[in-house]
Amino acid sequence: MSGLNILVTGGAGFIGSSLCERLVIEGHNVLAYDSLFRGRKSNLSSLQAHADFQFMQGDVRDIDRLDEAIELLGGVDIVYHLAAVNGTKWFHEAAHSVIDVNINGTLRTLELAMAHDARYVLASSPEAFGEALQQPIQNGNDMTFTDPSIHQRHSYGASKYLDEIASQHAARDGLDVRIVRPFNAYGPRLLGDEYGQVVAMFFQAILSNESIKLHNGGKQTRSFTWIDDVVEGFVLAGLQDKSLQNESLTGCALNIGSTEEITIQQLQETIFSLISNDETWVGKLPKIESIDGYHGDAKRRLPDCSQAETLLGWKSKTSLEQGLSMMWSSLR
Ligand SMILES: NC(=O)c1ccc[n+]([C@@H]2O[C@H](COP(=O)([O-])OP(=O)(O)OC[C@H]3O[C@@H](n4cnc5c(N)ncnc54)[C@H](O)[C@@H]3O)[C@@H](O)[C@H]2O)c1
Repeated sequence: MSGLNILVTGGAGFIGSSLCERLVIEGHNVLAYDSLFRGRKSNLSSLQAHADFQFMQGDVRDIDRLDEAIELLGGVDIVYHLAAVNGTKWFHEAAHSVIDVNINGTLRTLELAMAHDARYVLASSPEAFGEALQQPIQNGNDMTFTDPSIHQRHSYGASKYLDEIASQHAARDGLDVRIVRPFNAYGPRLLGDEYGQVVAMFFQAILSNESIKLHNGGKQTRSFTWIDDVVEGFVLAGLQDKSLQNESLTGCALNIGSTEEITIQQLQETIFSLISNDETWVGKLPKIESIDGYHGDAKRRLPDCSQAETLLGWKSKTSLEQGLSMMWSSLR
C-alpha cells in the first residue's frame, strides 16, 4: 500500500520523527502534528523539503486545529497517535498534565479517526500494566496500580490503560484500531536531559563528564529496543490490512520489544565496555553514583512478543550491543 494520507501526532518526538521518515520513504503523504512540548522541529530536518511531508504545530486536545491538519493533509486514511507527555520525571512533577494530555488527546484523536473512518494506531506502553507483577508482560495479565496517595507516577501508566480502554471501546463501535506497546525504545534523538530516558542519559553523562546515576543500585531490569525495530513494528501494525493469517487486526494489542533482558547496572557496564574500545575515551569514564529511584519504578519489564511475531511477522532484530554502538557513533 502506498500513497495514503497519514497523520502522526507527536510526529516531532523521538519515535514519531523516525516513523514519519519511514512512512515518507514508503511513499505516503504524511503530516506530523506536535505541540513541541518535548519534540523538536530539528528531528524532522531530513523531511523539511519533501513534497509528501508537512508539519503543523498544535495541541492534540485542540479539535479545531486537528481539523485544520486534516484539511491540509487532504483527508486522512490512518491516524498514528503518539502525542503524549512522556518522560518519568514529568509523571511525578506534572501528573495533571500527563492525565489531561494523554487521555484527552486520545479521546479527541479517536473521535477524529471515527469522523473520517480512518484506521487508528495507538502508542500505548507496558506501563499500562502498572507495577506488572506477572512477567513477561502479555495480554491477559493483570494491570496493577498502587495507592495514589503515596505517589502519582502512574498518572502515565493509568492514562495509557484508559487510552487502551477507549481504543478497545472504539474498536467495538467499528473503528479499525490497533494498539502498539513499545518497550524502552532507544536510538539517536532520544532525550538525555533530566526529563529523558536512561540510555541517552548515560551517554549524555559520559559526554559531559558527569557521574552516572544508578537508581537503587541499578538492579531493575529492562528490555531495550532499537528505534528502527520499533518503527518497523508501528509500520507493520498500521499498514497491514490483515494479519499474516488473513484475520482482522482490529483490537489487537501488540508488544513491540526486545526480549534481551538486562539490569540497568549491566546496561551501564555494557556502555562502559563499548566506550573503553574507543581510544579517544580511554581513561575518561565517569564516576558511578547510586541514588534513590523513583517511586513505582518497575522491577522488571520484559515483553512477550509472540503475538507481534505471529500476526505481523515482527521480531526485534538489533542486539543491544549493535544498537548501543550505532547510538554512540551518532553522538560523537
Ligand atoms: N520511547 C519509548 O520507549 C516508549 C515506550 C512506551 C510508550 N511510548 C509512547 O510512544 C509515544 C512516543 O514516545 P516518544 O518516546 O517518541 O516520546 P516523545 O516525548 O519524544 O514524543 C511525544 C511527542 O508528543 C508531543 N506532545 C506532548 N504533548 C502534546 C500535546 N498536548 N499536543 C501535541 N503534541 C504533544 C511532544 O512534543 C513529543 O514530540 C508516546 O505516546 C509514548 O508514551 C514510548
